[in-house]
Amino acid sequence: MEGTLASRQAAATGTTPEVRPAQSDPAHGNLTKDSLTKDSPTKDSPTQGSLTGGGAPSGRYLIRTARPDDAALIRDFVCGLSVRTQYFRFFTAVAPPSSGLIRSLSGDSGRSDILLVTDDSGAVIGHGMAADAQVGRTHTADLGLVVADRWQGQGLGTTLLRMLTDRAAERGVEALVLEVLPDNRRMLGIIERRWPHASRERTPDAITITAELIRPDLDYMDFPGQLLAAQLLDCAIRAAS
Ligand SMILES: CC(C)(COP(=O)(O)OP(=O)(O)OC[C@H]1O[C@@H](n2cnc3c(N)ncnc32)[C@H](O)[C@@H]1OP(=O)(O)O)[C@@H](O)C(=O)NCCC(=O)NCCS
Repeated sequence: MEGTLASRQAAATGTTPEVRPAQSDPAHGNLTKDSLTKDSPTKDSPTQGSLTGGGAPSGRYLIRTARPDDAALIRDFVCGLSVRTQYFRFFTAVAPPSSGLIRSLSGDSGRSDILLVTDDSGAVIGHGMAADAQVGRTHTADLGLVVADRWQGQGLGTTLLRMLTDRAAERGVEALVLEVLPDNRRMLGIIERRWPHASRERTPDAITITAELIRPDLDYMDFPGQLLAAQLLDCAIRAAS
């Protein structure tokens, strides 16, 4: 069942055994000086609770953690996705989404770290989630992300991926697991450029990619350099002893 909608929803809702709760405290995000409060956003003040924000060609955006009462916003977001985008994220057309899917995307299980990207009006324009699990002795996180069609190619997916990855590392996640359709060249390219040594397994439906996470105090983009430095130091210590 790997790579099917059912398994992706199962992972998202935390129905896999021995799932560890993810932390959804905004303090686990990449807080920037733009960070505002830890309060949840409201209609009157959509910036409250934001972890970060920025500008893109299509407009300004904010990123924050999701709450169960975001369900209606998430439903609208999913209904607005093109069939192609739905297919790449969920492996099938999902609009209108089932209540189970909306619940899992809203994080009602409390076992997933869910980030929302919103536009100036507070509408959801991007969604990323990491569902933690224990696979043998390894703490893993199943990652999924999707950006509204009009906002794709403007850096939002990269930002979401980086934040989800950083937050997962802070929770002690040791490996990220991503299921990607073979014809999703954009996502495969993103993964290949960030984790060239990630393992890949071809399932009947998809490619399952497992990328090891490094310590949270190391930037994964700088990891080869850090690793080389550590190896050189190790050689020097051995030579001196
Ligand atoms: C995949 C997705 C999340 C990426 O988000 P995005 O905001 O569109 O991507 P970004 O603008 O951050 O660009 C990420 C990379 O893709 C590259 N890219 C942008 N547009 C591209 C295109 N049309 N074709 C190929 N690569 C493209 C960028 O150059 C960037 O490269 P980098 O990794 O060297 O930095 C988004 O396109 C999406 O929602 N796709 C449909 C759902 C999906 O595939 N989800 C992933 C399943 S887990």
